[in-house]
Amino acid sequence: LLMEIVLLCGSLRKQSYNRKLLNTIKEHAPSHWTFTEIAIDRIPFYNADVEERRVPDEVTVLKEGLTRADGVIIVSPEYNNGMPAVVKNALDWAASPPQESPLPKKPIALAGASPQGAGTVQAQTQLRQTLIAIDAYVMSGPKLLVGQVHTRVEVEDEQITEEGTVKRIKKYVKAFDEWITTLSE
Ligand code: FNR
Repeated sequence: LLMEIVLLCGSLRKQSYNRKLLNTIKEHAPSHWTFTEIAIDRIPFYNADVEERRVPDEVTVLKEGLTRADGVIIVSPEYNNGMPAVVKNALDWAASPPQESPLPKKPIALAGASPQGAGTVQAQTQLRQTLIAIDAYVMSGPKLLVGQVHTRVEVEDEQITEEGTVKRIKKYVKAFDEWITTLSE
């Protein structure tokens, strides 16, 4: 049975390490996963007046995608010990209004890469807190924190091929597959 996995990427830059991590996750995913990435870079800042007048098309695409998704993977850098504003903004829109939110009980997994050692642990902790507030079912582990990422991937490569990281990614996607299955039972 096919599963649709929605991907959100918290880095908007072209040579992003998190983009490379996202590509690597796709590469090693179970064969019954299909992927839809939803762009979050054009979503305007959340504004209840705008929401009341007319929900922006980018938000409608996001909400429809999340509604359809069997699971969501958020691959994001850490900025100043937290999640990037684009990610928070997308989640704020997606969760509003609460009675129409696609996020309650949605299986979600987090991943992140950083040149620093801790590999986005603080951003993920913050993300988890927000996702709990909006009743999503975030997988607690195994965590995918890719520290010192610049030593694990070449600038010109689209993917991380370093063996240790690939091994962790394989475990991670398998665990998330089980998480989705368990929650759907
Ligand atoms: C960073 N960076 C960073 N890294 C980290 O591990 N913890 C942090 O708190 C921060 N803070 C931070 C703030 C801002 C404004 C920037 C631009 C960067 C470094 C960050 O991990 C690094 O730039 C990554 O390469 C960003 O991810 P992408 O774009 O490569 O995916």
